[in-house]
Formats: sequence, C-alpha cells, structure tokens
Amino acid sequence: MFFRKKQKETKDIDLNNLPQHIGVIMDGNGRWAKKRGLPRSAGHSAGAEGLKKIVTEANRLGVKYITVYAFSTENWKRPKEEVDFLMNLLLGYLKDAERSLAGENVRIRAIGSRKELSKEIQEQIIKTENLTKDRSGIVMNIALNYGGREELIHAAKNLCKKAMAGELDPDEITEADIDRELYTAGQPDVDLLIRTSGEQRLSNFMLWQVSYGEMVFVDKAWPDFKPEDLHECIRIFQSRGRRFGGVENA
Ligand code: IPE
Ligand code: IPE
Ligand code: MG
Repeated sequence: MFFRKKQKETKDIDLNNLPQHIGVIMDGNGRWAKKRGLPRSAGHSAGAEGLKKIVTEANRLGVKYITVYAFSTENWKRPKEEVDFLMNLLLGYLKDAERSLAGENVRIRAIGSRKELSKEIQEQIIKTENLTKDRSGIVMNIALNYGGREELIHAAKNLCKKAMAGELDPDEITEADIDRELYTAGQPDVDLLIRTSGEQRLSNFMLWQVSYGEMVFVDKAWPDFKPEDLHECIRIFQSRGRRFGGVENA
C-alpha cells in the first residue's frame, strides 16, 4: 500500500532524467524553532531527523549523489553553545547513520576541512566512511566544516605542490586537474541545488561544482522539507531547459 502511494506521487518524475548529483543547503532550522517558541537547537534536531527521509527517498528514486550542507567554515561565528550542539548532533548522526542508513545502502562521506574538528569527530568520520565504503547505493557527502573557497585553496595548494615536485606544468593545468583536487573528486557536478528557507544565495557552497547547476529555492524551512518537496524540486529540475552556454535542441 505504502509503495503504491509513493509510486503515484512520483509517476510524473522521469526516472531517466534524474539529477545525478543533488546539493542541499539545509537552511532555516533556527527560524523554524523560533516560530514555535523553541530553542534553535530544537530546529537542528528536527532538521537532522528529516534528513534521513530525504536521503532514503533520493536513493529510492535512483539519484547517485547527494551533498548536504551541515556546517560551513563560517558557522564557527555562531555562539559556542550552538556550535557545540551542532558538533554533537553531527557526531551522533555519523554514529547512527552507519546503522540507520545501512538498509538503505547509503555510502557516507564527509567533505570539508577536518583538522579544525574534534579528534572524536575526525575518528568517527573515518570509521563511518570505512564501514559504508563498499555500499552500492547513493553517495551522501556531508559537508562539515566545508567552504567552497577553502576547498579551492586546498586544491590550489595541492596543485602547487605537484608543480614544485615537477609532476605538473602550471601552464597545462586543466579543469580536470582542479576537479581531481576537490573533496568531490571523481563525482559528477551538482546539477540540482536546493536551498530551503527562502534565502537565495550560495553561502560558499560548492562554488566550482554548482557552475551549471539548476537552482531551486524553497520557502519552507528545512525541518518542514519532506520527500514530496524533493519530488517537486526534481519536477522543476526536469522542466528547465539546460543549455550549458549553447542553444536548445542544437
Ligand atoms: C541551517 O539552519 C543549519 C545550519 C546552518 C547549521 P540555520 O541555523 O541557519 O537556521 P536559520 O537560517 O538561522 O533560521
Ligand atoms: C548555510 O547557511 C550553511 C548551512 C546550511 C550549513 P547559513 O544560515 O549559515 O548561511 P547565511 O549566513 O544565511 O548566508
Ligand atoms: Mg541560516
């Protein structure tokens, strides 16, 4: 019964034209909580809970990659109490995801700069990545202490090291060389970017990978974003004419 209901909801989604890589800026947790007279932390907890359903649904549809923005390089500016809460929530999510997303066959990775994270989180990331690495379903990148600019600096440093070691001619650097140094090396570009809570900006998310991504802005706050909303975003994606600088039907 449940399965039939789902099928009905998704029948107008073209499964042969799914986005390959969905990026999600999960925004609006704080405002969601405030509206309900709750502390911001309650919004973060509700958001983390809803995330599992979205990943499960994206996987069920056949999407291959999903990257979720969980903590930006700028989010350290928040009150210590909130940062600590978020870090604990993320640690719990990583621990739990091994188990709760196991049946979903989700492969979990963390992207971003790790050295600023606690030792405990760094170790848990390695553990969760190793435990899920042979799974064959969707790849879920958790962007944790992630910033698009930091990622490009990290890539530039590695390219410079290669050039200094004589392994690379700086005049010959290609897009593929840069791609290889990103945290998302080997993955397709983001072709659908979703941001919730009505804000219409990138906030330093995947600057390189979103170059030709279709952006869909949703007014709902992240904790209110449901699998049906994911379907709607995919329908919008499928209604867009993508030209990549060329002309349609060329
Ligand atoms: C997104 O929700 C979650 C994180 C940035 C970690 P916010 O915490 O930014 O919620 P708002 O935007 O203040 O409502
Ligand atoms: C972006 O949201 C970061 C995450 C969702 C993790 P923010 O709430 O931090 O972004 P701004 O400050 O509104 O641009
Ligand atoms: Mg926000």
